[in-house]
Amino acid sequence: MARLLSYILPSAFWSLVAHGSLLGADPATTCTSLKTRLHLENTTILSTTHVVAPVNVSTPKGCFPEALVSSPICRVQFVVNTTSTSAVFAEAWLPDTWYGRFLAVGNGGLGGCVDYQNIDYGTSLHFATCWADLAPQRQVR
Ligand SMILES: *[C@@H]1O[C@H](CO)[C@@H](O)[C@H](O)[C@H]1NC(C)=O
Ligand SMILES: *[C@@H]1O[C@H](CO)[C@@H](O)[C@H](O)[C@H]1NC(C)=O
Ligand SMILES: *[C@@H]1O[C@H](CO)[C@@H](O)[C@H](O)[C@H]1NC(C)=O
Repeated sequence: MARLLSYILPSAFWSLVAHGSLLGADPATTCTSLKTRLHLENTTILSTTHVVAPVNVSTPKGCFPEALVSSPICRVQFVVNTTSTSAVFAEAWLPDTWYGRFLAVGNGGLGGCVDYQNIDYGTSLHFATCWADLAPQRQVR
């Protein structure tokens, strides 16, 4: 699965770059429009939300109910089907001000919480940052 994600997340990211560039002169409008403009294989875009920071946002997939967004971003929440019977939840946080750097953050073992604190740290340094929840969203055996 890790190998699959190492393929899917960067390709999802470069597709975001191609569509958003990253966010251009009007980040809020670009962000909203990504919901319908992004077409990624085996991927469902759940939401694209422009977040004006600093603010605490709700984090249903985190270990805590809220997380701090300390600099303005486009928050993209999506589900990637990894096989016909499993899927993972992921987020990409795209900073309004971006200098072309990408960061993927993760954790170890069975850690299934999205690490929002480190995503925020990445975007506060202007990295476009991705994280996937390795706990399967759906598994049929
Ligand atoms: C999408 O899913 C199909 C069916 O599981 C698979 O054959 C294909 O390789 C997947 N595409 C990507 C980019 O992973
Ligand atoms: C993901 O898998 C589910 C269940 O098989 C399917 O209903 C859905 O259409 C798939 N989504 C994509 C984007 O492939
Ligand atoms: C976010 O929540 C933390 C913890 O409740 C709080 O200390 C902080 O002031 C909040 N920040 C903002 C910008 O609302």
